[in-house]
Amino acid sequence: MGEMIGNIAHQWRQPLSSISITASNIKLKQNLNESITKEELYNDMAMILSKTQYLSDTIDTFRGFLKEEKEQKNIVIQERLDLVLKIVSSTLTNSHIELKSNYNELDPISLNMVVGELDQVLINIINNAKDVLIEKKIQKPWIKLKLILEKNKIIISIEDNGQGIPENIKDKIFEPYFSTKHQSQGTGLGLHMSYKIIVESLKGKIYTENTQNGAKFYIELPL
Ligand SMILES: Nc1ncnc2c1ncn2[C@@H]1O[C@H](COP(=O)(O)OP(=O)(O)O)[C@@H](O)[C@H]1O
Ligand SMILES: [Mg+2]
Repeated sequence: MGEMIGNIAHQWRQPLSSISITASNIKLKQNLNESITKEELYNDMAMILSKTQYLSDTIDTFRGFLKEEKEQKNIVIQERLDLVLKIVSSTLTNSHIELKSNYNELDPISLNMVVGELDQVLINIINNAKDVLIEKKIQKPWIKLKLILEKNKIIISIEDNGQGIPENIKDKIFEPYFSTKHQSQGTGLGLHMSYKIIVESLKGKIYTENTQNGAKFYIELPL
């Protein structure tokens, strides 16, 4: 239960802060009597709406976990990737991190799963990449998201150029409460929860390797 709440808090921090920043900006502009264009207002509101929708989906997912009643739905992988990128994009842009992706080249791929589970895993991994890119003050930081279709599985990979995961901690990163971050920054639950979702719930695999650039996480899901 505590683990669950820690995870909800972790998942919520980022979208909540984006909503708050966006709302404050609108308010500030009004106070300064600067005019907000209709388009700006529309875009800001659309962003707030998509994030609140995500927050609401997260609750549903965790409620599902608690009840052990996991309602499966047919979801299109590319649509979930779109949603995830929408959620993380403002934070990445704020940190000048370039997001590269190739997944729109493929025809829509649909899979049965509990709505929101895969999103959380992807957000965890992207957040970790963002953290390391900021912490190491990487020049020209980037995160690359790829989707590969094989005969009976899909592979989603997420690579960053943050210099990789040190050898001496590589075996520990999926353990609960393992974190190299300050207490206020990390719970050490993100990858543990991700492992449980991918392996236990989605019957897939999650693993990582270091490339010449940084860490690369792989998620394999059976079709
Ligand atoms: N992309 C990455 N590059 C380098 N180290 C990473 C990366 N992703 C995860 N790690 C390491 O794995 C640890 C565990 O990650 P996680 O379970 O998400 O917990 P937290 O982010 O709360 O520390 C991190 O503290 C970090 O040391
Ligand atoms: Mg994390």
